[in-house]
Amino acid sequence: MSVENLPRSIWWEDNKVYLLDETRLPLTGDVLVCATCDGLIMAIQSLAVRGAPALGAAGALGVALWCATEGLEFETTGASYRQRCAEVCEELSNARPTAVNLSWGVARMSRLIEEQVASAEALTPQQLAEAVIAAAEELCAEDEATNRRLAANGAALFDKPTNFLTHCNAGSLATVFYGTAVGVIYTAAEQGHVEHVWIDETRPLNQGARLTTWELLQAGVPSTLIADNMAAAVMREGWVDAVVVGADRICANGDVANKIGTYGLSILAKEHGIPFYSVAPASTFDLTLTDGSQIVVEERDPRELEGVTVSGRFDATTPEMQRALEAVCASEDSQLAMAQGHMMEIRRKGGGFAFDAWFKTTPTHVQSFNPAFDVTPAANITAFITERGVIYPDESGFSNPIAAALNG
Ligand code: MRU
Repeated sequence: MSVENLPRSIWWEDNKVYLLDETRLPLTGDVLVCATCDGLIMAIQSLAVRGAPALGAAGALGVALWCATEGLEFETTGASYRQRCAEVCEELSNARPTAVNLSWGVARMSRLIEEQVASAEALTPQQLAEAVIAAAEELCAEDEATNRRLAANGAALFDKPTNFLTHCNAGSLATVFYGTAVGVIYTAAEQGHVEHVWIDETRPLNQGARLTTWELLQAGVPSTLIADNMAAAVMREGWVDAVVVGADRICANGDVANKIGTYGLSILAKEHGIPFYSVAPASTFDLTLTDGSQIVVEERDPRELEGVTVSGRFDATTPEMQRALEAVCASEDSQLAMAQGHMMEIRRKGGGFAFDAWFKTTPTHVQSFNPAFDVTPAANITAFITERGVIYPDESGFSNPIAAALNG
């Protein structure tokens, strides 16, 4: 088992933000280059970069990107620098509402900017951009170190070969590197304590089927994919010893928002007497929220639920085809409506043309509801695995242990 072959998810290079386009994994390892904050916001909303810790890095790098581009046009001492920077930070923070790490990453950079612009010897826009880039890169490096620490804390709970079940992707691809819940699995595997990993498909966007399976195959950890509705049957067979999942926001009382389906899984684990661990860095805890009813759950485009997307590439084999594809890509909107409500989007890609085709699989007038997350009550969680240690509830629940562990 080795994580050597895993790619990094997001990084700063050449005054731009680079990220592995996770919408196209495992088909291609395309890298997206974001030269503007608006481009990065689109990448966040399309889930090209995703997973709470990776979103924290994206938030910080996004602020750095603004400082290194539009921010250079202002005097750092002027009110307009502050005002425009605040607007951009707000937009970035709200790009996706549920994972608190996104606004945490943005806030860490905006605090640094506030301090600098308020200081007697304010920096030039260029110097300030350099300081924010350095701080954002530091946050990215910290992410890996944090994940390795929390993974070591989690792996210590398993002293014999264990059958894990995980949901969505809380692996290296959901962080800058290494992963949280899947990080625990990697460290346990290094110690010879992984028997097998069951991976939930994770409808509707299939982060488990597309991303976690790919990661574990790359790393050489034995795993099996199941559809979300198979977890109960697998548990009843006695094939699962522990459930490990990531988190997007953890409240003061221990209620947790994570990928839709996590709540159901927690009930199944409880019913079968299987320990259920929520694995997350301290940056995922939001102690300003008393309980899960205050969490904003992102609702996504119903088309994610109402059809399937097939991605691929056209190679223009004739001059006519080349001209036709170029004409489509030259227009403002490269979305083509096809028969029966199906759609195709074609983009120029290197020497060829990439496409995403969406095929509707439901009736035309279906009504659908597509929340991206759900909230698992603290009562269903055995413990939180963090870089600061493993947090168990006491007789009053999680509130006191969480505050003590995070502040101590
Ligand atoms: O919508 P996504 O793919 O960003 O959702 C990701 C999850 O729910 C993860 O489980 C969570 O962010 C933890 S990642 C370490």
